[in-house]
Amino acid sequence: ITHLLSAADLDRDTATLLLDTARQLGAALSGREVKKLPTLRGRTVVNLFYEDSTRTRVSFEAAAKRLSADVVNFSAKGSSVSKGESLKDTAWTLQAMGADAVVIRHPASGAAHRLAQWVDGHVLNAGDGTHEHPTQALLDAYTMRERMGRLEGLRVAIVGDVLHSRVARSNVLLLNTLGAEVTLVAPPTLLPVGVESWPAGVEYDFDAVLPKTDVVMMLRVQRERMTDSFFPSVREYSRRYGLDVRRAGLLPDDALVMHPGPMVRGMEIAPEVADSPRSAIVEQVANGVLVRMAALYLLLSGEKGAGE
Ligand code: CP
Repeated sequence: ITHLLSAADLDRDTATLLLDTARQLGAALSGREVKKLPTLRGRTVVNLFYEDSTRTRVSFEAAAKRLSADVVNFSAKGSSVSKGESLKDTAWTLQAMGADAVVIRHPASGAAHRLAQWVDGHVLNAGDGTHEHPTQALLDAYTMRERMGRLEGLRVAIVGDVLHSRVARSNVLLLNTLGAEVTLVAPPTLLPVGVESWPAGVEYDFDAVLPKTDVVMMLRVQRERMTDSFFPSVREYSRRYGLDVRRAGLLPDDALVMHPGPMVRGMEIAPEVADSPRSAIVEQVANGVLVRMAALYLLLSGEKGAGE
C-alpha cells in the first residue's frame, strides 16, 4: 500500500500483515535496552495536525522515532495557516522540506485523500472530520486480538455518538473485514443517515446487548461537533447509554472494556469501570505506538535509501 487513508482500503491480508508486523516490532523492541530500531534512518515523517490530539500525535511521533526516522511536528495553531495558507500550499511547503511521509489530522472529512493527491510522499490519515481514523481501528483490533486471542466471531458493541465518530466507522469496516460481529448501540439522534448499509447491527437497548458482548467500546459524545441545542443532557445520556458499574456487571466475566480516548468520565463511562482490570484503555494507547510503527514500516521501509 502507498497510503493509509481508510480502513475500507485494507483487505484481510493487508490488515493482518499490519497487526502481525506490530507484534513483531513489539517483540524486536522488548529485548532492547535502547527502544529503537534503525529501519527508517534518514527518512522524514511530518506530523501535520489541524485538530487537537494527545494520543495519536504523541504515538505517531514515538513510533517514527523508535524506527529512527526524523520527525517534524506541525501544528496549525501558531503556523501560517492562521494567515490563510491553504492545505495545498502547506503540503507543498512540507514536501519541499523533504517529507517522506505525512501524518495528517484535519477537521474536514476527505482531507487525507486530497493531500495524497498533492504530495509525492506517503500519507497516513490520523483522523479526518467524522470520516475515518484507520490507525485507531488497527490499534483497537490489535488490542482485541491480544486480549481475546481472536477476532473471528468476536461480538463487539460500539456505543454512543456514532454520528460524529470516525473511530466507529473505521472500526466497523476493519472489524467486519477481520470477521468480528459489530453491533452499534446509540440513541437514534446519534446515528448517521444510511447506517443501515453499514456492515453492523443497530440496537437501542444497551442493557439487552451487554450479556451478548465480548468487547464493549465506548465513544465520547463529541460536543465540539454539535450545536448546543443538539447536545443531550449529561444525566439523561449517562442513564441510558453510560457504562456504569451496574451495566458492566451485565457483561460476561471475560469481556473487555475499551475507549479510544479522550474519555469524559462520569458521562459515557464510570471511573470505576474505566480503571477496572477488564478495561484495556491503557493498553490501547501503548499498542497505538506498535501499530503506527507497523504502518510507517510497511509504507516506508521498502524504499531505496531506508536503513536495514
Ligand atoms: N483516540 C484519539 O484519536 O485520541 P486523540 O484525539 O488524543 O489523538
